[in-house]
Amino acid sequence: MSTQNHAAALQHPIFSYVAKTAAQTGVQAYVVGGFVRDYLLNRSGKPDIDFVVVGNGIAFAEAVATHLPTRPKVQFFKNFGTAMLQFAETDIEFVGARRESYARDSRKPIVESGTLQDDQLRRDFTINALAISLNEADFGALVDPFDGIADLSSKIIRTPTDPDITFSDDPLRMLRAIRFAAQLQFQIDSSCFDSIKRNAHRIEIISRERIIGELNKILETEKPSLGLSLLYDAKLLELILPELTALNQVEEIEGQTHKNNFYHTLEVVDNISRNTNDVWLRWAALLHDIGKAPTKKFQKKQGWTFHGHEYVGSKMVKKIFIRLNMPLNQKMKFVQKMVLMSSRPIVLAQDIVTDSAVRRLIFEAGEDVESLMTLCEADITTKNKIKFKKYHQNFELVRQKIVEVEERDQVRNFQPPITGEFIMETFGIGPSREIGVIKEYIKEAILEGKIANDFEQAKELLFKKAEELGLKQHTNG
Ligand code: CTP
Repeated sequence: MSTQNHAAALQHPIFSYVAKTAAQTGVQAYVVGGFVRDYLLNRSGKPDIDFVVVGNGIAFAEAVATHLPTRPKVQFFKNFGTAMLQFAETDIEFVGARRESYARDSRKPIVESGTLQDDQLRRDFTINALAISLNEADFGALVDPFDGIADLSSKIIRTPTDPDITFSDDPLRMLRAIRFAAQLQFQIDSSCFDSIKRNAHRIEIISRERIIGELNKILETEKPSLGLSLLYDAKLLELILPELTALNQVEEIEGQTHKNNFYHTLEVVDNISRNTNDVWLRWAALLHDIGKAPTKKFQKKQGWTFHGHEYVGSKMVKKIFIRLNMPLNQKMKFVQKMVLMSSRPIVLAQDIVTDSAVRRLIFEAGEDVESLMTLCEADITTKNKIKFKKYHQNFELVRQKIVEVEERDQVRNFQPPITGEFIMETFGIGPSREIGVIKEYIKEAILEGKIANDFEQAKELLFKKAEELGLKQHTNG
């Protein structure tokens, strides 16, 4: 396969400009990394293209830019010898071939120029070190000194050099190894994985944003448990999300055990990933039970309990987001809300599904009620086939009821039919406690189904309650 010519890979318009620049300047240029890997794997959707040139990467990028019809701006990082530009909706990166190693306590590289092979050797994995030539002499030839092709076909993640060197050059690569294994469903070579275990603690020097970038990519895979289990086995997960690994225990008291909530969580994440691509909903699945470790108790009568774990868990979500420098915005609030409400539909489905319980659920979950149902359905991991079927049927019933109640009562984006202003005008009063009491009374009556979500019915109730409170209708003049 390596002798095969790969000129067919070079369809993107950038390649002819790069080849032209290479010919004109006499600088050798190669496309390298993810583009080549994904082409050989027949994987589509690769958004960026990386080039390595044997010479000055920044000067080469400037020369390419002058040929391009769009004359894009070249951004560069002198310290890294890299340059970036955009062309035909693609991020294009150039780097001068280098020998590089990093100082042990930082990501600041010591860069020296080198040969193409030096550059390939310092890359993370053999499958990412494959290069295709853009030079006249051997246009389209694959340059594969570390047998990346063999690793692609046997589905192996392996480093081109001693993994201890590769990972100490950039410890993020330990997460990348796991992410690629999860995305491509490849195996990590065993000596490479041993090295990850040995070097796991070095992840501490990596920025939290880069860590979360990889974690999100793992969560976005088809079956996230593959990557999450690898993170666990490599002892990386306990450094990144100790709240999650704390769930990996089963205790027994008086012959009673509780389920292993870590493995349960992995199943829930896989389940939800079949039904949603929303990474935040996947985060909610990942964190939905984290409150169970701190709230676990054994009680003589009830056995194992996790009282209030949803509330405690939702508070922990915020702490995790702060610690990992994740966005403290609506996305975090969404995850918190999902964790807080994660048992609600389950409790509801265990009983007779009443309209008022469904109305309350829609009222409290608002726009997120479907996401909540998706989470709760994913939470069914019982191995008992009869129970599995029964729980799903109950949820189907809840879903039907949601549609029915929603059509009739429209409480999802509940707007009180009687406003505070209306109450003030009607009774000639200013802002006061009574207004809150009346509004709450009307809202409760609607949620309980005593009246419809309707102005006239609410007004009738308003007068009744106002009388109880001793309010008199205000007459003008
Ligand atoms: N690379 C590396 N070490 C890193 C990051 C990147 O050696 N920590 C090299 C690899 O050769 C990689 C290339 O730089 O293929 C481009 O990196 P990047 O764009 O991050 O990854 P891709 O391999 O292109 O894959 P993806 O876009 O899926 O992340």
